[in-house]
Amino acid sequence: MTHPFSSYRKLFPILENTIQLSSCSQSALSLPVKRAIDDYLDIWTRRGADWGYWMDQVALARAEFARMIHADANDIAVLGSVSDAASAIASALHFDGERQAIVTGSLDFPSICHVWLAQQPRGAQVRFVQAQPGASDTTDKVVRAIDGHTALVSVSHACFYEGQIVDIAATGRAAREHGAVQFVDAYQSAGSLAIDVRAQQVDILAAGAQKYLLGIPGIAFLYVRPELAQRLTPSVTGWFGRVNPFEFNPAKLDFADGAARFNTGTPPMMCASVARAAIGLINEIGVPAIEDYLGDLSAVALEEAPRLGLEVVSPKTPGAKGANTAIRIPNASEVEARMLQSGYVVSARNDVIRVAPHFYNTAEDVVGALRELARLTR
Ligand SMILES: Cc1ncc(COP(=O)(O)O)c(C=O)c1O
Repeated sequence: MTHPFSSYRKLFPILENTIQLSSCSQSALSLPVKRAIDDYLDIWTRRGADWGYWMDQVALARAEFARMIHADANDIAVLGSVSDAASAIASALHFDGERQAIVTGSLDFPSICHVWLAQQPRGAQVRFVQAQPGASDTTDKVVRAIDGHTALVSVSHACFYEGQIVDIAATGRAAREHGAVQFVDAYQSAGSLAIDVRAQQVDILAAGAQKYLLGIPGIAFLYVRPELAQRLTPSVTGWFGRVNPFEFNPAKLDFADGAARFNTGTPPMMCASVARAAIGLINEIGVPAIEDYLGDLSAVALEEAPRLGLEVVSPKTPGAKGANTAIRIPNASEVEARMLQSGYVVSARNDVIRVAPHFYNTAEDVVGALRELARLTR
């Protein structure tokens, strides 16, 4: 299989001696990202404090994220984590009237479910849709669970555990038809699956930078559909959520227009520099091309793993899963450490090892990792 992005491999120094296949957790460090960190430190060293540069980096990072999901930069807030983004959204919703239900999936990332469960004292009733590992019917189950009592539908676009994809356009449509709002956790899809918030009619979408966005933790982007943002008033807030953060009036609580009202404290400037460079690289290639290629790598993994006697926990068709192929390994953490000794960075979660390539990986990287997994667990 030819590698359409082979010229980019030299931007990832780790690939000279280690094969990193852990984009569901942390992607490989690229030279543009390293340069962004060096520049940040250099400017700090030379200029002391440069608010203009810092705010520019945040604005540029927002713009790159917005471009990637086909949104306007004004429709994006910048927070510290996806969990924080979910909490900010929850704080703007009311659960004490007719609409008390929050519909969420049992395979969604626990942190987000915990945010929804934390709304129970405010009247929320959390309904878990039982999603099965490897299944392709979660979308239908979510759609069926939505009714006139639903306030919020929360879906994970691609599952952190075994990569199954939810059709966010279909769940969003069902939410809309019942007068509910949809929250999409795109942390495992952003940068690896094409997202078009307008075409897919997304209400709210959040993603951090550490995984397929090639960055580091400490920053998350929150898209809120502009008409919806205008109707929501968060009670999780801070000075960057004001109309003018630099007005410094402690007695005046005004909310900025659009998604900016969900900003809280000082944005993570250094993480924003990283995200600007990292998402810039993703946008240079284009997510649709990356998605196609990662689909090909999924096909390779799904064919090779059973041949080697490995049990695949992920959906068995490439189109039903993201880049991550999860292999059942009971002592996964131990095997993850042994894989590293063999030169492969993979990621353990409970009883699976996740083999999660990005565009810089080759089919040989994936097959090599699976063969090593089979050898170590024989
Ligand atoms: C799908 C998904 N959502 C949310 C999170 C948590 O994000 P954060 O730590 O930024 O709150 C993760 C972390 O792995 C994740 O994979």
